[in-house]
Amino acid sequence: MEESWVNSAERIGADLHLELSEPGGRRAALIRALREAVRSGRLAPGTRLPPYRSLAADLGVARNTVADAYAELVAEGWLTARQGSGTRVADRAEPLRHAVRTPIKAPPRARGPLHDLRQGAPDASAFPRTAWLASYRRALQRAPSEVFGPGDPAGRRELREALTEYLARARGVRAEPERIVICSGFAHALRLLFGQGGSAGRNGGGGGDVGGDGVLHGPLAVEAYGLGFHRGLLATAGVRTVPLPLDADGARVGLLERERGVLLTPAHQFPTGGPLHASRRAAVIDWARARGTVVLEDDYDGEFRYDRKPVGAVQGLDPERVIYIGSVSKSLSPALRLGWMVLPEQYVDDVLAAKGEREAWASVLDQLSLADFLVSGAYDRHVRRMRQRYRRRRDRLVEALAEHAPHVEVTGVAAGLHAVLRLPPGTERSTVKAAAWQGIALDGLAAFRHPETTMESVDGLVVGYATPSEHAYGAAVDALCGVLPSGEQRGTSTV
Ligand SMILES: Cc1ncc(COP(=O)(O)O)c(C=O)c1O
Repeated sequence: MEESWVNSAERIGADLHLELSEPGGRRAALIRALREAVRSGRLAPGTRLPPYRSLAADLGVARNTVADAYAELVAEGWLTARQGSGTRVADRAEPLRHAVRTPIKAPPRARGPLHDLRQGAPDASAFPRTAWLASYRRALQRAPSEVFGPGDPAGRRELREALTEYLARARGVRAEPERIVICSGFAHALRLLFGQGGSAGRNGGGGGDVGGDGVLHGPLAVEAYGLGFHRGLLATAGVRTVPLPLDADGARVGLLERERGVLLTPAHQFPTGGPLHASRRAAVIDWARARGTVVLEDDYDGEFRYDRKPVGAVQGLDPERVIYIGSVSKSLSPALRLGWMVLPEQYVDDVLAAKGEREAWASVLDQLSLADFLVSGAYDRHVRRMRQRYRRRRDRLVEALAEHAPHVEVTGVAAGLHAVLRLPPGTERSTVKAAAWQGIALDGLAAFRHPETTMESVDGLVVGYATPSEHAYGAAVDALCGVLPSGEQRGTSTV
Protein backbone atom coordinates (compact mmCIF):
# COMPACT_ATOMS: atom_id res chain seq x y z
CA MET A 1 0.00 0.00 0.00
CA GLU A 2 1.22 3.45 -0.85
CA GLU A 3 2.24 5.44 2.20
CA SER A 4 0.82 8.85 2.73
CA TRP A 5 3.21 11.79 2.72
CA VAL A 6 2.14 12.77 6.20
CA ASN A 7 2.57 9.35 7.78
CA SER A 8 5.97 8.78 6.31
CA ALA A 9 7.16 12.31 6.91
CA GLU A 10 9.60 11.36 9.63
CA ARG A 11 11.31 8.88 7.33
CA ILE A 12 11.15 11.11 4.31
CA GLY A 13 13.24 13.57 6.27
CA ALA A 14 12.94 16.45 3.81
CA ASP A 15 10.18 18.84 3.00
CA LEU A 16 10.21 19.58 -0.70
CA HIS A 17 9.70 23.06 -1.94
CA LEU A 18 9.88 22.91 -5.71
CA GLU A 19 9.30 25.72 -8.17
CA LEU A 20 7.77 24.48 -11.40
CA SER A 21 7.46 27.78 -13.13
CA GLU A 22 10.07 27.16 -15.81
CA PRO A 23 9.05 26.68 -19.42
CA GLY A 24 9.00 23.29 -21.15
CA GLY A 25 6.13 21.52 -19.50
CA ARG A 26 5.52 20.36 -15.97
CA ARG A 27 7.26 17.03 -16.29
CA ALA A 28 10.48 18.62 -17.53
CA ALA A 29 10.21 21.36 -14.89
CA LEU A 30 9.80 18.80 -12.13
CA ILE A 31 12.78 16.78 -13.38
CA ARG A 32 14.92 19.91 -13.45
CA ALA A 33 13.78 20.99 -10.00
CA LEU A 34 14.46 17.58 -8.45
CA ARG A 35 17.82 17.24 -10.18
CA GLU A 36 18.82 20.65 -8.91
CA ALA A 37 17.68 19.80 -5.37
CA VAL A 38 19.89 16.69 -5.39
CA ARG A 39 22.81 18.40 -7.07
CA SER A 40 22.82 21.30 -4.62
CA GLY A 41 22.67 18.99 -1.63
CA ARG A 42 19.22 20.17 -0.59
CA LEU A 43 18.13 16.55 -0.93
CA ALA A 44 20.82 14.45 0.71
CA PRO A 45 21.77 10.91 -0.44
CA GLY A 46 19.39 8.37 1.05
CA THR A 47 16.55 10.86 1.50
CA ARG A 48 13.20 9.31 0.81
CA LEU A 49 11.07 11.22 -1.66
CA PRO A 50 7.36 11.76 -1.15
CA PRO A 51 4.98 9.21 -2.70
CA TYR A 52 3.69 10.16 -6.16
CA ARG A 53 0.23 10.98 -4.95
CA SER A 54 1.37 13.33 -2.16
CA LEU A 55 3.84 15.26 -4.26
CA ALA A 56 1.33 15.46 -7.10
CA ALA A 57 -1.28 16.90 -4.74
CA ASP A 58 1.27 19.30 -3.26
CA LEU A 59 2.36 20.61 -6.65
CA GLY A 60 -1.04 20.47 -8.34
CA VAL A 61 0.18 18.16 -11.10
CA ALA A 62 -1.01 14.75 -12.31
CA ARG A 63 0.25 11.68 -10.49
CA ASN A 64 1.71 10.34 -13.71
CA THR A 65 3.80 13.49 -14.11
CA VAL A 66 5.52 12.74 -10.81
CA ALA A 67 5.86 9.03 -11.67
CA ASP A 68 7.46 9.90 -15.01
CA ALA A 69 9.82 12.42 -13.45
CA TYR A 70 10.95 9.91 -10.80
CA ALA A 71 11.44 7.25 -13.48
CA GLU A 72 13.57 9.58 -15.59
CA LEU A 73 15.77 10.49 -12.63
CA VAL A 74 16.13 6.84 -11.66
CA ALA A 75 17.27 6.15 -15.21
CA GLU A 76 19.78 9.01 -14.95
CA GLY A 77 21.11 7.63 -11.68
CA TRP A 78 19.99 10.50 -9.47
CA LEU A 79 17.37 8.42 -7.68
CA THR A 80 16.90 4.79 -6.80
CA ALA A 81 13.61 2.92 -6.60
CA ARG A 82 13.22 -0.27 -4.67
CA GLN A 83 10.12 -2.26 -3.90
CA GLY A 84 9.04 -1.56 -0.35
CA SER A 85 11.42 1.31 0.35
CA GLY A 86 10.08 3.87 -2.07
CA THR A 87 12.09 6.29 -4.14
CA ARG A 88 15.24 7.70 -2.62
CA VAL A 89 18.09 9.95 -3.55
CA ALA A 90 20.90 7.72 -4.82
CA ASP A 91 23.88 7.32 -2.53
CA ARG A 92 26.35 8.25 -5.21
CA ALA A 93 24.42 11.32 -6.31
CA GLU A 94 27.16 13.79 -5.50
CA PRO A 95 26.10 17.36 -4.81
CA LEU A 96 28.07 20.22 -6.28
CA ARG A 97 31.32 20.84 -4.46
CA HIS A 98 30.46 24.38 -3.45
CA ALA A 99 27.07 23.34 -2.14
CA VAL A 100 28.29 20.54 0.09
CA ARG A 101 26.62 20.91 3.41
CA THR A 102 28.82 19.66 6.15
CA PRO A 103 26.80 17.95 8.83
CA ILE A 104 26.11 20.21 11.77
CA LYS A 105 28.61 19.26 14.38
CA ALA A 106 28.22 19.93 18.06
CA PRO A 107 30.45 22.87 18.94
CA PRO A 108 33.69 21.74 20.52
CA ARG A 109 33.15 21.54 24.23
CA ALA A 110 35.16 24.02 26.15
CA ARG A 111 36.94 22.11 28.86
CA GLY A 112 35.02 23.19 31.96
CA PRO A 113 36.39 23.48 35.46
CA LEU A 114 36.90 20.32 37.44
CA HIS A 115 34.60 21.60 40.16
CA ASP A 116 32.00 24.19 39.28
CA LEU A 117 31.03 26.16 42.37
CA ARG A 118 29.96 29.30 40.55
CA GLN A 119 26.71 30.72 41.71
CA GLY A 120 23.95 31.23 39.19
CA ALA A 121 22.58 27.96 37.93
CA PRO A 122 20.54 25.14 39.40
CA ASP A 123 21.62 21.51 39.08
CA ALA A 124 21.09 20.98 35.36
CA SER A 125 21.02 17.22 35.77
CA ALA A 126 17.89 17.59 37.91
CA PHE A 127 15.70 19.18 35.25
CA PRO A 128 12.34 17.39 35.62
CA ARG A 129 12.29 15.94 32.11
CA THR A 130 9.46 13.46 32.60
CA ALA A 131 7.11 15.89 34.31
CA TRP A 132 7.93 18.66 31.82
CA LEU A 133 7.30 16.32 28.92
CA ALA A 134 3.93 15.34 30.41
CA SER A 135 3.00 19.02 30.73
CA TYR A 136 4.20 19.76 27.23
CA ARG A 137 2.18 16.88 25.82
CA ARG A 138 -0.97 17.86 27.69
CA ALA A 139 -0.53 21.49 26.67
CA LEU A 140 -0.12 20.55 23.03
CA GLN A 141 -3.05 18.13 23.05
CA ARG A 142 -5.41 20.62 24.68
CA ALA A 143 -4.34 23.74 22.85
CA PRO A 144 -7.05 25.12 20.59
CA SER A 145 -5.95 26.11 17.09
CA GLU A 146 -5.93 29.81 17.91
CA VAL A 147 -2.88 29.15 20.09
CA PHE A 148 -0.88 28.87 16.89
CA GLY A 149 -2.17 32.19 15.65
CA PRO A 150 -0.54 35.60 16.09
CA GLY A 151 -0.39 35.55 19.92
CA ASP A 152 -0.57 38.11 22.67
CA PRO A 153 2.36 40.32 23.69
CA ALA A 154 1.35 39.93 27.34
CA GLY A 155 1.81 36.17 27.07
CA ARG A 156 -0.74 33.33 27.15
CA ARG A 157 -3.60 33.97 29.48
CA GLU A 158 -3.42 30.38 30.81
CA LEU A 159 0.09 31.12 32.10
CA ARG A 160 -0.82 34.51 33.51
CA GLU A 161 -3.73 32.95 35.39
CA ALA A 162 -1.60 30.12 36.71
CA LEU A 163 1.04 32.61 37.87
CA THR A 164 -1.56 34.80 39.55
CA GLU A 165 -2.59 31.87 41.73
CA TYR A 166 0.92 30.55 42.31
CA LEU A 167 2.56 33.87 43.13
CA ALA A 168 -0.21 34.78 45.58
CA ARG A 169 0.04 31.42 47.32
CA ALA A 170 3.82 30.95 47.33
CA ARG A 171 5.17 34.49 47.37
CA GLY A 172 2.41 36.73 48.71
CA VAL A 173 2.25 38.65 45.44
CA ARG A 174 -0.96 40.54 44.70
CA ALA A 175 -1.32 39.90 41.01
CA GLU A 176 -4.03 39.65 38.45
CA PRO A 177 -3.60 38.29 34.92
CA GLU A 178 -4.00 41.76 33.35
CA ARG A 179 -0.97 43.02 35.32
CA ILE A 180 1.32 40.18 34.33
CA VAL A 181 3.58 40.35 31.31
CA ILE A 182 5.49 37.23 30.34
CA CYS A 183 9.09 37.81 29.36
CA SER A 184 12.18 35.70 28.97
CA GLY A 185 13.66 36.35 32.38
CA PHE A 186 14.95 39.09 34.61
CA ALA A 187 17.47 40.40 32.13
CA HIS A 188 14.78 40.75 29.48
CA ALA A 189 12.56 42.54 31.98
CA LEU A 190 15.34 45.07 32.60
CA ARG A 191 15.67 45.67 28.86
CA LEU A 192 11.91 46.12 28.48
CA LEU A 193 11.75 48.54 31.37
CA PHE A 194 14.85 50.61 30.66
CA GLY A 195 15.27 50.19 26.92
CA GLN A 196 18.21 49.03 24.89
CA GLY A 197 20.00 52.35 24.90
CA GLY A 198 21.13 54.26 21.89
CA SER A 199 17.93 55.97 20.75
CA ALA A 200 16.12 59.02 22.02
CA GLY A 201 13.05 58.02 23.98
CA ARG A 202 9.58 59.36 24.24
CA ASN A 203 10.78 61.78 26.90
CA GLY A 204 13.41 63.12 24.60
CA GLY A 205 16.29 61.63 26.59
CA GLY A 206 18.90 59.56 24.88
CA GLY A 207 22.04 59.85 26.86
CA GLY A 208 23.29 61.15 30.15
CA ASP A 209 22.42 59.11 33.22
CA VAL A 210 18.70 58.63 32.80
CA GLY A 211 18.48 56.33 29.76
CA GLY A 212 16.28 57.17 26.84
CA ASP A 213 14.09 54.63 25.15
CA GLY A 214 12.72 52.89 28.22
CA VAL A 215 9.51 52.84 30.21
CA LEU A 216 11.53 53.84 33.29
CA HIS A 217 14.44 56.20 33.64
CA GLY A 218 17.49 56.58 35.84
CA PRO A 219 19.24 57.25 38.01
CA LEU A 220 18.42 53.95 39.64
CA ALA A 221 19.59 52.96 43.12
CA VAL A 222 20.98 49.43 43.30
CA GLU A 223 22.47 47.36 46.08
CA ALA A 224 26.21 47.95 46.54
CA TYR A 225 26.77 44.25 45.88
CA GLY A 226 24.85 42.74 42.98
CA LEU A 227 25.16 41.14 39.60
CA GLY A 228 27.54 43.08 37.36
CA PHE A 229 25.74 41.75 34.31
CA HIS A 230 22.58 43.58 35.34
CA ARG A 231 24.49 46.78 36.06
CA GLY A 232 26.00 46.40 32.61
CA LEU A 233 22.59 46.11 30.97
CA LEU A 234 21.49 49.27 32.71
CA ALA A 235 24.66 51.09 31.72
CA THR A 236 24.09 50.06 28.10
CA ALA A 237 20.60 51.51 28.33
CA GLY A 238 22.20 54.75 29.50
CA VAL A 239 20.94 54.41 33.07
CA ARG A 240 23.25 55.48 35.88
CA THR A 241 23.19 53.20 38.91
CA VAL A 242 23.75 54.58 42.39
CA PRO A 243 25.09 52.08 44.95
CA LEU A 244 23.15 51.65 48.16
CA PRO A 245 25.29 50.35 51.06
CA LEU A 246 24.30 47.15 52.84
CA ASP A 247 24.36 46.15 56.48
CA ALA A 248 22.99 43.26 58.52
CA ASP A 249 19.41 44.34 57.76
CA GLY A 250 19.94 44.51 54.01
CA ALA A 251 20.03 47.57 51.79
CA ARG A 252 20.13 50.87 53.67
CA VAL A 253 17.04 52.27 52.02
CA GLY A 254 17.05 55.23 54.42
CA LEU A 255 19.85 56.63 52.27
CA LEU A 256 17.65 56.81 49.17
CA GLU A 257 17.36 60.32 47.91
CA ARG A 258 16.37 61.63 44.53
CA GLU A 259 16.85 58.45 42.51
CA ARG A 260 13.98 57.59 40.20
CA GLY A 261 13.69 54.01 41.36
CA VAL A 262 15.45 51.32 43.34
CA LEU A 263 16.32 47.74 42.41
CA LEU A 264 16.37 45.32 45.35
CA THR A 265 16.62 41.59 46.07
CA PRO A 266 14.52 41.72 49.26
CA ALA A 267 13.94 38.01 49.91
CA HIS A 268 17.62 37.10 49.70
CA GLN A 269 20.11 39.85 49.06
CA PHE A 270 22.24 38.92 46.09
CA PRO A 271 24.91 37.81 46.75
CA THR A 272 25.44 38.48 50.47
CA GLY A 273 22.37 36.53 51.49
CA GLY A 274 20.19 38.26 54.10
CA PRO A 275 16.56 39.27 53.80
CA LEU A 276 15.58 42.94 53.84
CA HIS A 277 14.43 43.79 57.36
CA ALA A 278 10.67 44.34 57.80
CA SER A 279 11.16 47.98 58.82
CA ARG A 280 13.14 48.61 55.63
CA ARG A 281 10.52 46.91 53.50
CA ALA A 282 7.99 49.37 54.83
CA ALA A 283 10.44 52.27 54.54
CA VAL A 284 11.22 51.66 50.88
CA ILE A 285 7.51 51.61 50.04
CA ASP A 286 7.08 54.90 51.92
CA TRP A 287 9.95 56.38 49.94
CA ALA A 288 8.47 55.22 46.62
CA ARG A 289 5.08 56.67 47.52
CA ALA A 290 6.54 59.97 48.64
CA ARG A 291 8.70 60.28 45.54
CA GLY A 292 6.06 58.95 43.14
CA THR A 293 8.57 56.36 42.01
CA VAL A 294 8.94 52.61 41.90
CA VAL A 295 10.67 49.65 43.56
CA LEU A 296 11.96 46.88 41.30
CA GLU A 297 11.81 43.60 43.19
CA ASP A 298 14.12 40.88 41.85
CA ASP A 299 12.71 37.68 43.37
CA TYR A 300 15.29 35.41 41.78
CA ASP A 301 15.29 32.53 44.27
CA GLY A 302 12.41 33.25 46.63
CA GLU A 303 11.22 29.64 46.63
CA PHE A 304 14.37 28.34 48.23
CA ARG A 305 14.18 29.19 51.91
CA TYR A 306 15.36 26.56 54.38
CA ASP A 307 14.93 27.89 57.89
CA ARG A 308 11.33 29.04 57.99
CA LYS A 309 8.46 30.17 55.85
CA PRO A 310 9.53 32.02 52.73
CA VAL A 311 9.92 35.77 53.06
CA GLY A 312 6.97 37.15 51.13
CA ALA A 313 7.34 39.65 48.34
CA VAL A 314 7.57 43.36 49.09
CA GLN A 315 5.13 43.78 46.21
CA GLY A 316 2.35 42.59 48.54
CA LEU A 317 2.74 45.83 50.52
CA ASP A 318 1.83 48.03 47.58
CA PRO A 319 1.23 46.58 44.10
CA GLU A 320 1.10 50.10 42.62
CA ARG A 321 4.63 50.94 43.76
CA VAL A 322 6.47 47.71 43.05
CA ILE A 323 7.41 45.95 39.84
CA TYR A 324 7.81 42.32 40.82
CA ILE A 325 10.04 40.21 38.57
CA GLY A 326 10.60 36.46 38.67
CA SER A 327 11.76 33.69 36.39
CA VAL A 328 12.27 29.94 36.25
CA SER A 329 16.04 30.38 35.98
CA LYS A 330 16.76 29.10 39.51
CA SER A 331 13.75 26.88 40.02
CA LEU A 332 13.85 24.99 36.70
CA SER A 333 16.49 26.12 34.26
CA PRO A 334 18.01 29.36 32.98
CA ALA A 335 17.88 27.83 29.49
CA LEU A 336 14.08 27.92 29.31
CA ARG A 337 14.17 31.73 29.20
CA LEU A 338 10.79 32.20 30.86
CA GLY A 339 10.00 34.93 33.33
CA TRP A 340 7.28 37.33 34.37
CA MET A 341 6.68 40.83 35.55
CA VAL A 342 3.80 41.84 37.80
CA LEU A 343 3.31 45.49 37.00
CA PRO A 344 1.56 48.47 38.52
CA GLU A 345 -1.33 49.28 36.24
CA GLN A 346 0.27 52.49 34.98
CA TYR A 347 3.15 50.63 33.30
CA VAL A 348 1.31 47.78 31.59
CA ASP A 349 0.63 49.45 28.25
CA ASP A 350 4.12 50.91 27.93
CA VAL A 351 5.76 47.58 28.70
CA LEU A 352 3.57 45.84 26.15
CA ALA A 353 4.53 48.46 23.60
CA ALA A 354 8.19 47.91 24.47
CA LYS A 355 7.78 44.21 23.77
CA GLY A 356 7.37 45.02 20.13
CA GLU A 357 6.41 42.68 17.37
CA ARG A 358 6.88 39.05 18.29
CA GLU A 359 10.61 38.54 18.04
CA ALA A 360 11.05 38.94 21.77
CA TRP A 361 8.05 36.85 22.80
CA ALA A 362 8.44 33.54 24.56
CA SER A 363 7.41 30.39 22.70
CA VAL A 364 3.71 29.73 23.17
CA LEU A 365 4.28 26.02 23.78
CA ASP A 366 6.76 26.72 26.54
CA GLN A 367 4.29 29.13 28.09
CA LEU A 368 1.47 26.60 27.98
CA SER A 369 3.75 23.87 29.33
CA LEU A 370 4.72 26.05 32.26
CA ALA A 371 1.05 26.87 32.88
CA ASP A 372 0.26 23.15 33.01
CA PHE A 373 3.36 22.52 35.14
CA LEU A 374 2.10 25.06 37.68
CA VAL A 375 -1.56 24.05 37.68
CA SER A 376 -0.86 20.31 37.86
CA GLY A 377 1.27 20.77 40.98
CA ALA A 378 4.42 19.55 39.21
CA TYR A 379 6.15 22.88 39.88
CA ASP A 380 5.49 22.64 43.63
CA ARG A 381 6.70 19.06 43.70
CA HIS A 382 9.87 19.95 41.82
CA VAL A 383 10.63 22.95 44.01
CA ARG A 384 10.06 20.86 47.16
CA ARG A 385 12.37 18.14 45.90
CA MET A 386 15.07 20.62 44.93
CA ARG A 387 14.72 22.48 48.19
CA GLN A 388 15.51 19.26 50.05
CA ARG A 389 18.43 18.52 47.77
CA TYR A 390 19.93 21.99 48.09
CA ARG A 391 19.38 22.02 51.83
CA ARG A 392 21.37 18.78 52.11
CA ARG A 393 24.14 20.32 50.05
CA ARG A 394 24.17 23.45 52.14
CA ASP A 395 24.38 21.35 55.32
CA ARG A 396 27.23 19.35 53.88
CA LEU A 397 29.11 22.53 53.00
CA VAL A 398 28.57 24.00 56.46
CA GLU A 399 29.69 20.77 58.16
CA ALA A 400 32.78 20.43 56.00
CA LEU A 401 33.80 24.01 56.71
CA ALA A 402 33.21 23.59 60.44
CA GLU A 403 35.54 20.60 60.36
CA HIS A 404 38.25 21.76 57.98
CA ALA A 405 38.15 25.55 58.11
CA PRO A 406 36.49 26.63 61.37
CA HIS A 407 37.93 30.14 61.03
CA VAL A 408 35.89 30.71 57.87
CA GLU A 409 32.47 32.11 58.63
CA VAL A 410 29.60 31.00 56.39
CA THR A 411 26.79 33.47 55.83
CA GLY A 412 23.68 33.78 53.72
CA VAL A 413 22.84 30.11 54.06
CA ALA A 414 19.22 30.38 55.19
CA ALA A 415 18.05 30.56 51.62
CA GLY A 416 19.02 30.31 48.01
CA LEU A 417 21.50 28.31 46.00
CA HIS A 418 24.73 29.86 47.19
CA ALA A 419 26.58 30.78 50.36
CA VAL A 420 29.12 33.45 51.20
CA LEU A 421 32.32 32.39 52.94
CA ARG A 422 33.94 35.24 54.83
CA LEU A 423 37.68 35.14 54.55
CA PRO A 424 40.41 36.75 56.63
CA PRO A 425 41.07 40.27 55.30
CA GLY A 426 43.38 40.42 52.33
CA THR A 427 43.03 36.74 51.37
CA GLU A 428 40.21 36.77 48.82
CA ARG A 429 42.21 37.29 45.68
CA SER A 430 44.85 34.67 46.46
CA THR A 431 42.16 32.16 47.45
CA VAL A 432 40.26 32.60 44.19
CA LYS A 433 43.57 32.09 42.37
CA ALA A 434 44.45 29.02 44.40
CA ALA A 435 40.99 27.62 43.67
CA ALA A 436 41.47 28.18 39.95
CA TRP A 437 44.76 26.29 40.11
CA GLN A 438 42.91 23.36 41.61
CA GLY A 439 40.24 23.49 38.91
CA ILE A 440 37.59 25.04 41.14
CA ALA A 441 35.49 27.75 39.53
CA LEU A 442 34.02 30.28 41.93
CA ASP A 443 33.91 34.03 42.42
CA GLY A 444 35.16 36.33 45.11
CA LEU A 445 32.84 38.95 46.59
CA ALA A 446 34.79 41.67 44.79
CA ALA A 447 33.31 40.48 41.48
CA PHE A 448 29.89 41.69 42.64
CA ARG A 449 30.87 45.02 44.13
CA HIS A 450 29.55 48.20 42.56
CA PRO A 451 32.61 50.08 41.36
CA GLU A 452 31.43 53.35 42.89
CA THR A 453 30.48 52.14 46.34
CA THR A 454 32.43 53.54 49.25
CA MET A 455 31.19 50.86 51.58
CA GLU A 456 33.93 48.96 53.41
CA SER A 457 34.97 45.98 51.37
CA VAL A 458 34.78 42.46 52.68
CA ASP A 459 36.88 39.46 51.68
CA GLY A 460 34.78 36.47 50.81
CA LEU A 461 33.87 33.76 48.37
CA VAL A 462 30.48 33.26 46.74
CA VAL A 463 29.99 29.52 46.57
CA GLY A 464 27.19 28.14 44.42
CA TYR A 465 26.25 24.74 45.78
CA ALA A 466 23.53 23.94 43.25
CA THR A 467 25.53 23.73 40.06
CA PRO A 468 27.44 20.43 40.38
CA SER A 469 25.50 17.29 39.74
CA GLU A 470 24.73 15.16 42.79
CA HIS A 471 27.64 12.77 42.34
CA ALA A 472 30.18 15.58 41.81
CA TYR A 473 29.26 17.70 44.79
CA GLY A 474 31.18 15.94 47.57
CA ALA A 475 34.46 16.14 45.69
CA ALA A 476 33.86 19.82 44.95
CA VAL A 477 33.38 20.60 48.66
CA ASP A 478 36.49 18.63 49.60
CA ALA A 479 38.50 20.49 46.96
CA LEU A 480 37.19 23.82 48.22
CA CYS A 481 38.18 23.05 51.80
CA GLY A 482 41.66 22.30 50.52
CA VAL A 483 42.25 25.80 49.18
CA LEU A 484 40.82 27.93 51.96
CA PRO A 485 43.35 30.10 53.77
CA SER A 486 44.37 29.06 57.21
CA GLY A 487 44.33 31.65 59.97
CA GLU A 488 42.74 32.64 63.18
CA GLN A 489 41.36 35.93 62.06
CA ARG A 490 37.76 36.27 61.01
CA GLY A 491 36.69 38.66 58.34
CA THR A 492 34.81 41.53 59.85
CA SER A 493 32.33 43.66 58.03
CA THR A 494 29.01 45.36 58.15
CA VAL A 495 27.39 43.18 55.49
C1 LIG B 1 20.46 38.29 41.10
C2 LIG B 1 19.76 37.55 40.01
N1 LIG B 1 18.62 38.04 39.52
C3 LIG B 1 17.95 37.41 38.53
C4 LIG B 1 18.40 36.24 38.01
C5 LIG B 1 17.60 35.58 36.92
O1 LIG B 1 18.01 36.05 35.70
P1 LIG B 1 17.27 35.57 34.35
O2 LIG B 1 15.82 35.43 34.70
O3 LIG B 1 17.54 36.65 33.37
O4 LIG B 1 17.88 34.26 33.97
C6 LIG B 1 19.61 35.71 38.46
C7 LIG B 1 20.16 34.47 37.91
O5 LIG B 1 19.54 33.45 37.76
C8 LIG B 1 20.29 36.37 39.49
O6 LIG B 1 21.43 35.88 39.99
